[in-house]
Amino acid sequence: MNKPKVSPKVSASQTLDRVLVLEMVRVTEKAAVAASKLIGRGDEKAADAAAVEAMRRAFDELYMDGTVVIGEGERDEAPMLYIGEKVGGAPGKGPKIDIALDPLEGTTITAKAGPNSLAVLAAAEEGCLLNAPDTYMDKLAVGPGYPEGIISLEKSVTENVTAVAEAKGVAPADIIVCVLDRPRHGAIIDELRGLGCGIHLIPDGDVAGVIAVTDEDTTIDMYMGQGGAPEGVLAAAALRCVGGQFNGRLVFRNDDEKARARKWGIADKDFDRIYTLDELASGDCIFAATGVTSGSLLDGVKRRRNGTMTTESVVMRASSGTVRWVKGEHRIG
Ligand code: FBP
Repeated sequence: MNKPKVSPKVSASQTLDRVLVLEMVRVTEKAAVAASKLIGRGDEKAADAAAVEAMRRAFDELYMDGTVVIGEGERDEAPMLYIGEKVGGAPGKGPKIDIALDPLEGTTITAKAGPNSLAVLAAAEEGCLLNAPDTYMDKLAVGPGYPEGIISLEKSVTENVTAVAEAKGVAPADIIVCVLDRPRHGAIIDELRGLGCGIHLIPDGDVAGVIAVTDEDTTIDMYMGQGGAPEGVLAAAALRCVGGQFNGRLVFRNDDEKARARKWGIADKDFDRIYTLDELASGDCIFAATGVTSGSLLDGVKRRRNGTMTTESVVMRASSGTVRWVKGEHRIG
């Protein structure tokens, strides 16, 4: 194991705030670079495995007592970065930090060289991230600047779009909604088409899809639909940092998924609960991502003929709202 790089004298909150913020970019960079070797190679598993292994190793260089709360699955199904796994170079000594991660968000995108795959993580003080089970989640998001509570999963698609359109001062037909391209979203898409909305259909990668509502340049106003619950917590952590509103509700397809949820501390009374941003990621969280393939959020890893490669990352912190865009140039070697 490599030696920790950070002074042990730094307190938990200082470490989260000041030191780990930039260190987390190294972690997502390493995962993205490893996965990038498999872009367009048609092998989802190999791309994911490369990212997982690189991210796992990168964590060991950080002075922290980290615990994976959202990861690659349960211990018996994931060799590395499983839920509950301790990560970091200072177990029992460093600041206790919970980590939600997806070393390769968009395995299929990477295998097919599509847009918007990311290496991504969120870090927060112990107990601040919802230990979301590996189920689906209904998601609804809007960017910053709207009155609190303007969207709700309790309302219909039409009601939500109309409310956002009124607040924006445009017609419902002018609203653009990002939706994962899945047959299960047929009813949502039909209702949006009925309103004349623009629909930005994405093949995969709803972390970037949700974050797109915070960026005026994407022209996307809202995100709607069902995707992975772990990805919902990651997207919520990002929105906690940059603003916006999010509703998430767990979706269970069978009793086994409910049992998994109970195992990670979700009470039966919360099975239908609508979680808001603060309930998914509270306290002073960090969100970091590096592009694997280029997309709306970040450029992907690019290898150059001169023997270097470039990465683009973003790291954000909830307590300050600071967003840093980090361009890296690395020697290929
Ligand atoms: P993977 O990286 O695990 O392939 O996830 C990609 C993704 O598109 C997520 O962004 C999204 O939340 C989820 O899959 C949707 O699940 P499904 O493909 O089952 O609709």
